[in-house]
Amino acid sequence: MTRRKKIYEGKAKILYEGPEPGTLIQYFKDDATAFNAQKKAVLEGKGVLNNRISEYIMTRLNGIGVQNHFIKRLNLREQLIKEVEIIPLEVVCRNIAAGSLSQRLGLPEGQQLPRSIIEFYYKNDALNDPMVTEEHITAFNWASTQEIDDMLAMTLRVNDFLCGMFGAVGITLVDFKCEYGRVWEGDFSRVLLADEISPDSCRLWDSATNEKLDKDRFRRDLGNVIESYTEVARRLGIMKEMPTVIQGGVH
Ligand code: TMP
Repeated sequence: MTRRKKIYEGKAKILYEGPEPGTLIQYFKDDATAFNAQKKAVLEGKGVLNNRISEYIMTRLNGIGVQNHFIKRLNLREQLIKEVEIIPLEVVCRNIAAGSLSQRLGLPEGQQLPRSIIEFYYKNDALNDPMVTEEHITAFNWASTQEIDDMLAMTLRVNDFLCGMFGAVGITLVDFKCEYGRVWEGDFSRVLLADEISPDSCRLWDSATNEKLDKDRFRRDLGNVIESYTEVARRLGIMKEMPTVIQGGVH
């Protein structure tokens, strides 16, 4: 038996070689980290929930023409994806002040922003993912001006769609982070949405109570992390296909 080849291991996911050239397998771990991995835990069932929630969101986004890396889910923890050349940026879109924006600008958490704001962070753990501007991105060749325009337009479309999708089930999308990659066709490349979209990478508040249903429950030691992710999946209508261990909740 040969062991499949690990291509990359991140904090919450592992990428393995895929069955065909140009494909990879994305494996969702139960590991949770915050503050650049200074805080760590294993949250049983998180990987299964994020695999399924991200599948659901990427599939819906594909349906409205937001091209992304998702091909199909393979099992509880794995999905087949297109291999992309990751652009080393975290693209954050914010609708309501929270987290680092609130800290940086002294805005109370929960304050509606005058409009959606997009920020770029340079993906570099050693530097703690510093915020960067388009000037840095083009000067250091992390992405071209065309790619920046594509990422801005795609992120706004993702935001509009997700605000509506979550709003319909009583969840407010406060902010989220996404990542992009390029695929090459001859001399030309295209930008695809990559990575995951899940309660690990979004701030999701119950619209009626403002209760947090996302990774801030872990970052801020609020407890009931898995229960909250499960509630997000339940409201999106995707709990039916979940294994019983998750369906019953982890108590
Ligand atoms: P922030 O307020 O801490 O900058 O986070 C903004 C959004 O980005 C929030 O939805 C959480 C998400 N995020 C990640 O997905 N990964 C990260 O490493 C960080 C810092 C934030």
